[in-house]
Order: sequence, then C-alpha cells, then structure tokens
Amino acid sequence: MIYFDNAATTFPKPEAVWKAMEDCAYHYCGNPGRSGHIFSIKTGKAVFEVRRKLAEILNAEDAMQIVFTCNATEALNLGLKGILREGDHVITTSMEHNSVLRPLKALESKGVESSIVKAGANGSVDPEKIKEAIKNNTRLIVCTHASNVCGTIMPIKEIGELAARKGILFFVDASQTMGSIPVDLKEIRADLLAAPGHKGLLGPQGTGFLYLSSDLNGCLVPLRQGGTGTASKSMRQPSEVPEAYESGTLNALGIVGLGAGIEWIERLGGGSYFRGIKAIRSWERELTAYIDDELANMNKVIVYGVKEAEKKVGVTAFNISDLNCEEAASLLSKEYGIAVRAGYHCAGPAHRTIGTWDTGAIRISAGPFNTKKEANRLLQAVYRMTR
Ligand code: ALA
Repeated sequence: MIYFDNAATTFPKPEAVWKAMEDCAYHYCGNPGRSGHIFSIKTGKAVFEVRRKLAEILNAEDAMQIVFTCNATEALNLGLKGILREGDHVITTSMEHNSVLRPLKALESKGVESSIVKAGANGSVDPEKIKEAIKNNTRLIVCTHASNVCGTIMPIKEIGELAARKGILFFVDASQTMGSIPVDLKEIRADLLAAPGHKGLLGPQGTGFLYLSSDLNGCLVPLRQGGTGTASKSMRQPSEVPEAYESGTLNALGIVGLGAGIEWIERLGGGSYFRGIKAIRSWERELTAYIDDELANMNKVIVYGVKEAEKKVGVTAFNISDLNCEEAASLLSKEYGIAVRAGYHCAGPAHRTIGTWDTGAIRISAGPFNTKKEANRLLQAVYRMTR
C-alpha cells in the first residue's frame, strides 16, 4: 500500500517509536506518579521527559503547562469547555474541524455565543474579518494553524497579535502543523494550543496534549474528576496543572512512543528538532507542490485551496469531474493500492468555504516517508481515472 493519508495519522511510524514502546512495555511500565516503586518512578520520569521535550519545542514557559490527552479532540474540548462561560463570545473560522465546531455548538446551550468568520475560497481567513467580529464580551479566538481539508496555513501570527492587543485569549489547533512546521508559542502568542501526538510528531494513536499558559492556571474547569496520584484524602479535584486535567491512568506507553517520535525528528536534524522539522517541511513542500502542479495540469481535475507551496502544508484536495470522490478513493485503494481520504474530513463548513459542499473532495496528504516514485504512481493512477 502506498500511504498518502498522513493528515489523518502518519504512517509508517519510525521503528524507534515501536522499539521504545516495546522496551517500556516489557521492562518497566508501571503507573506513573502513583507509587514509590522503581517501575512507577521510571515511567513517571519517562512521561515527564516527554512533557519537558514538548515544552521545549513549543517554547513554553514550563513543562507542567503541558497536559496530556488522548488526542487533539480531547485537548480542544478541554480548552474550550474549560475556559468558556455563560455570557462569553468566541470567534472561530469556517475552516475548523468538527472538534472545534461541535464543542462550540454544544456550548450554545450553556449560554456561550459564537461567530464563525468565513475564510476565502482558498481557505485563508482574513484577520481583518476576525477583528470586525470582535464584541465587548469576546473572550476567545480559536483557529486552526492549517486546514486539514486543503492544507492552507492560517495567518495565526497576525491573529495572535490582534488577540493580544484586544486582551482576548487565543487558542490554536495545531493538529496539522505540529511536527511539520515550526510552532513557537511566543511568536504566535497563543494562550492555549492543542495537538495530536500521532500526526506530525510521529507518535502512536491515543496521544495528544493541551498547552495552557501559566496565566490560566486554575481557570479551566476539568472535563473529568478522579484520581491524580496526589491529595488522595481530599474529595476535591486538585487545581494544580497538569494533574487537575489528567485524572486517571495516563497512556504512558503511548507517551513514551511520542517521545521517541520527537527524538526521531531531532536525529533527522542532527540533534536539533528544528533542523529536523526544516528537513521534513522542505520535503513535504516539494512533494506537495509537484503533486499539485501535475494534478492541476490534468484534464477533468480540479485542485482546491492555495496554489503557493509556502502557504500550505502537505495536503492536496481535488476532484475528478464526473467521478464521485468516495468512489475515486475506493478505486485508488482497491485498484492501485493507494491510501487517501475522501469525503468531508470532519469539516463540513471548510468544504462549503472551498466550494465542495455538494461533492466533498479527495485528499492526498504527504508525510516524511513518501517518495517521488510513490507520488508518480499516485499521479499515474489519477491520470488513468480521468480517461
Ligand atoms: N482529523 C483527521 C483528518 O483530517 C482525522 O483526517
């Protein structure tokens, strides 16, 4: 199988990820932070090391501001439901994933009002339009860093500056960018940031995290209460970050795998995560630009989103006229052994924005392990399907 569905989850993972998890599972996987024995302590240290690494690569103030979750959806739910209260207004964009839009819809019943700012047909949102949507009670702006549908990178630095100027909290969904392009919290001025561990960071599924600015410590309502390994005699949920939001046993094995994914990127960069990211970004950009250009030159093919390679991550959304996108993806899988994702990608309004509300689209998403030869196989298959 040629795998071009890296926006859903990266595949394959580096071998080092499975090796680190195997080592943990076989040799020491105790419950982190729960007991004083050597396995619990070693697992706790391994989990902390990944927290520390995430804080470092994000330029966060402290490792304890990283809250582990089981995916980006949980992190987004925790951030949104934790921070927004009755009477608050929140601004978001039409390019968001349902993991932002559905919690906001659910929060309407709790008296939280939201405005969805429409992006342009290329998927890019204009910060001026966000500015126009600000009201006296706007508490939060939440925006994806890059679209999971067509890859467009959002002007989050400008939006972050706007939010900071207006004293509004800024929440970034980095699901499609962590591990693919640099994400610096100080530069984008994010107060909250959610990301999965299993996409660009090359960790296993079941991992994700929320970064929470230390200014917000004690401000978020937890999604759940329970055991934290601390203050066990109290029936009240502790307020310390991160344990206030990590009740229950962590996915230590998965977190260890996530740490190994980050280390793999560091090794790729000769010991520097940022050089590793630069190499991944450069390759994904080159490959995606090639795929985009070749597709755009084919009869009956329409490619959506921004054209400039530097304005998008490694995602291509397209359709073949007269061919249903799901059927096309099924043909690619069954006849040509190529994995892509078609349909609406859990982001209906994004499809409305780019003009594919009635059709959906086929999505190709490149990852660090894809090759030019694989891209050519994919392009030949699409070409044959247009005949
Ligand atoms: N959010 C993931 C995607 O876009 C699963 O495919």
